[in-house]
Amino acid sequence: MRRIAIFASGRGSNAVNIIKYFSCGDRGAAVALVVCNNPKAEVTERCCSLGVHVEVLSRADINSPDVMCPLLERHEVDLIVLAGFMVKVPAELIKKYENRIINVHPALIPAFCGKGCYGLRVHEEALKRGVKITGATVHFVDEGMDTGPIIMQKTVKVHEDDTPETLQKRVMEEAEWVILPWCINLIAAGSVKVENGKVIVTE
Ligand code: GAR
Repeated sequence: MRRIAIFASGRGSNAVNIIKYFSCGDRGAAVALVVCNNPKAEVTERCCSLGVHVEVLSRADINSPDVMCPLLERHEVDLIVLAGFMVKVPAELIKKYENRIINVHPALIPAFCGKGCYGLRVHEEALKRGVKITGATVHFVDEGMDTGPIIMQKTVKVHEDDTPETLQKRVMEEAEWVILPWCINLIAAGSVKVENGKVIVTE
């Protein structure tokens, strides 16, 4: 059984979706812990009420391997899932959990990603550019910004009357909430490997 830590900063729709998905039936993974950097974020309340242990940590604590490593070890975490986490994961943690940290991004990487392109801004940029198709990406986290090996992507149609908010909602419902649990399942089953910087899925 893989033990997951979810790192989140905001509303927590992805966190709640993952917790619910992995708490029903016989799944190969379970959420052991939620880490949040913002005490006012909705995700803390939502995950607590689902019975999951939540740690609210300062940015300094998140950047400290002396805080993070013992915390993750105590909860026997083997996979870290960034679900709307707006803090850069420190290099020490990325090294220690190589190919064991994944992130969901609300666009088809390499479009609309990188520094300053996160959350609602991604959808604002996509609408500004007039793309007809967008989507979501799940990728391994490396030291760059949205640059790690891509595990899975799913497309979503842009509607002519979309606002950033309606597009964000559709991308979450049709793509993020589908591919993120799917990728966790594949990793838990040992079906995902990285070779020469690319992901190979063997189902
Ligand atoms: C999600 O759309 C997630 O993909 C995005 O932030 C939102 C968090 O919503 N993440 C990024 O933009 C990271 N680059 P949530 O807190 O309701 O899950």
